[in-house]
Amino acid sequence: MIMKFMAKNGLLLSCCILAGFASFAQKAQITPYHEPYRPQVHFSPKEHWTNDPNGLVYYKGTYHLFFQYYPKATVWGPMHWGHAVSKDLIHWEQLPIALYPDKLGYIFSGSAVIDKDNTSGLGTKDKPAIVAIFTHHDPKGEKAGSAKFQNQSLAYSLDEGLTWIKYKGNPVLKNPGIRDFRDPKVCWYAPGNKWIMTLATKDRITFYSSPDLKKWKKESEFGQMLGAHGGVWECPDLISLKLNGKEYWVLLVSINPGGPNKGSATQYFVGHFDGGKFTPIGSQTKWIDFGPDNYAGVTFGNTGARKVFLGWMSNWLYANQVPTLKWRNAMTIPRQLSLKLMAGDIWLASNPVEELKKIVTKTIKVDAGLLAKDNNIFSVIKQTPAQYRLKFNTRAVKDYSVILSNGSGEKLVIGYEAKNSRYYIDRTKAGQSGFSQNFAAVLYAPRVSLSPTSNFELLVDASSVELFADGGLSNLTSIYFPKKPYTRLSIVNNGMEIEHLQIQPLRSIWQ
Ligand code: FRU
Repeated sequence: MIMKFMAKNGLLLSCCILAGFASFAQKAQITPYHEPYRPQVHFSPKEHWTNDPNGLVYYKGTYHLFFQYYPKATVWGPMHWGHAVSKDLIHWEQLPIALYPDKLGYIFSGSAVIDKDNTSGLGTKDKPAIVAIFTHHDPKGEKAGSAKFQNQSLAYSLDEGLTWIKYKGNPVLKNPGIRDFRDPKVCWYAPGNKWIMTLATKDRITFYSSPDLKKWKKESEFGQMLGAHGGVWECPDLISLKLNGKEYWVLLVSINPGGPNKGSATQYFVGHFDGGKFTPIGSQTKWIDFGPDNYAGVTFGNTGARKVFLGWMSNWLYANQVPTLKWRNAMTIPRQLSLKLMAGDIWLASNPVEELKKIVTKTIKVDAGLLAKDNNIFSVIKQTPAQYRLKFNTRAVKDYSVILSNGSGEKLVIGYEAKNSRYYIDRTKAGQSGFSQNFAAVLYAPRVSLSPTSNFELLVDASSVELFADGGLSNLTSIYFPKKPYTRLSIVNNGMEIEHLQIQPLRSIWQ
């Protein structure tokens, strides 16, 4: 089925991208991982609630993803660490729960390291422990009005992450009296032969160091007067990345609320780290993703120079209300991070990991001239459901947009406004939004790149779209909930030539 329309000011191409809705709906009722809205190329728990990714670490050929998990309901509750593993960052297998709440409290966010030199004494050199460093959140202390209800604790695994033992000396880092004192991200700082903990402490980051993961010493504070402060700071990460052979450090800091499109979002700072103190270069507030649905993202540990980021694909403004039934919330696609130099400033780019190519079923290249001439034929995406990548380049002189729509008048518009030099996702008519007054909105990302060529890449799943624009510098991630899956893909290009249009259907990771 191929359809074609002429828009008033340009060309509007359209094609049916999905065949067989009825079969999608029928399959949805019965098959796990194929329910309505179930992401087909992103991780989501088989059942129940998730928020932040935790303890991301690579070990012996396996990527471990732990996640904030409440196994009794599809709303936030007493937090556990769920666990999933992957060989390729794309296909995930969910394992038994790793960490349960205990008398010290719920298991809030944190990280995991491979203690190769057995600094902690919890494993051996031959059989290193995976050590999880997390926040114990004591709900009773919170209720009683104490300010010291969040403390940092350890758990370790001697069988490559399958079973976990809580450390007897918990907590290892006690709260000095700061209500928001959480989400430790630990990395090995080789030049100083010590561990560094990056901790969110209300409106700033506090760095601690340790020789053994058990005794922690405060090193410095960062950020009280820098960056965005519309909400509390959470889930930080500190990583090193090279640019033209020179090492820089990037500090990621999630903030809620106060994001550029309301609610939750993640900012970053590029700078230097000397083992005790982080010194930023410049003072501009920068965002890893401007969209509302990429939060609490951190990177996998133990991946060498390669840094892979994973975020939670929702927003605290409505995460507890989104209209999914068996499970609630999913992760973003894993994204590889890199630094880019532009006009004397350093920026962080993030793009889907190359492993995503593994599930590309085919690449449909659309001849550039065809789009301009208005005689296109897309006989393409007949996959169910709608996962695909669409990539193109264009001289960014006019507006353009990609429209996903269905026969019920619902549409999601992803585009570029030349006049204001900004990308946008309009989800005002995208589908269900009554579950929260904060959901229906037009979401914007300023164009960070100064290049004359605009580069636009979309990753579309059953209820999410991730826009990677200008090489991953101007990103927007948004979830959406159409009453019926979208069946049509249209491109409005206002007569502008679009080069290299590629469409790549993706195979479900749950098949
Ligand atoms: C971020 C967060 C963390 C906390 C966790 C609790 O989304 O609020 O700061 O550890 O979620 O589930």
